[in-house]
Amino acid sequence: MEENIKEVLANFESEIKEATDLDKIEKLRVNYLGKKGEITTLKKSIAKLSKEEKPQAGKLINEASKKIEKALEEKNEEVKANLLKKKVEAEKIDVTAHFDKAHSGHLAVINQTMEELESIFQNMGFDVVEGPEVDTVKYVFDDLNSPKDHPARSTSDTFYINDEILLRPHTSSMQIRVMKECKLPIKMVSAGRVFRNDEVDATHSPMFHQLECLVVDEKVSMANLKATLETFIKEMFGDDMKLRYRPHHFPFTEPSLEVDVTCPICKGKGCPSCGNTGWSMELLGGGMVHPKVLENCGIDSEKYTGFAFGLGVDRIAMVKYGLDDIRLLYDNDKRFIEQF
Ligand code: DAH
Repeated sequence: MEENIKEVLANFESEIKEATDLDKIEKLRVNYLGKKGEITTLKKSIAKLSKEEKPQAGKLINEASKKIEKALEEKNEEVKANLLKKKVEAEKIDVTAHFDKAHSGHLAVINQTMEELESIFQNMGFDVVEGPEVDTVKYVFDDLNSPKDHPARSTSDTFYINDEILLRPHTSSMQIRVMKECKLPIKMVSAGRVFRNDEVDATHSPMFHQLECLVVDEKVSMANLKATLETFIKEMFGDDMKLRYRPHHFPFTEPSLEVDVTCPICKGKGCPSCGNTGWSMELLGGGMVHPKVLENCGIDSEKYTGFAFGLGVDRIAMVKYGLDDIRLLYDNDKRFIEQF
């Protein structure tokens, strides 16, 4: 019996050396300590021994069983520790490793242009004001001194929600809101979307962007308007850009003017895109605020004067970046967008 036990132990010891993973260890446990395992078989065979031999054999088998149990447990711990070590090594993070950065987006060109314009005017001491895209006929036309038969009022030019409410066709309604709601003196710009019932072509879109400017104070003159425009155009486009003033008519300014700038493509020499004039398409309309408009907002037009202008943000972007088609700004073609 003693020989048998020694043999079983010797076998176990050589097998456990080979057991390098948890599965093999578990198999060994079953083979030696399981119901049909070697140790269990030895225990069963005690019954066949004589009375005298039984205690000694029992003791040896128990010792062997404990030895095997302990060895299995130790091997188990050792294998687990090794696994953990390997895992930690494999998952080490190299903080210097290179990886592709996620692509982040950016503002659309038109919004970049609007922010640039706002910041130029802010630096000149203007407040930046925001207003609604859906406005009233009163603010958009009536208070701005637009005659009832003005063509802009027709449904073929303007999108109406009902008889009194419409999508603003210009940002000039913001003049009325600010004059009615704010204290004098006023020095504000307000940029945003405007809507017109226009067919889409290279220079027109039913939705585009304007920036409105309004200054109301005592002794505001045309000279202030010109100085403001010239400072702004030079800030936006550089010193080489020239301005051209043309007389015009708007119901809400008197006198009124329109402004063009040097053609950005030929720099004033004359080219097909400017019809050989050397000047861009008109960038803005403006003038001295009509006294009736001041009075409509409860401002004493004997004491106060003002200037106002509204510029096409899309056209500013087209001049700035030399674009020949307004649709580029809205097509969402990545090849275009990624250039900015
Ligand atoms: N609202 C005009 C337009 O959309 C532009 C304009 C002209 C704005 C004269 C003004 C102004 O503030 O004084 O065509």
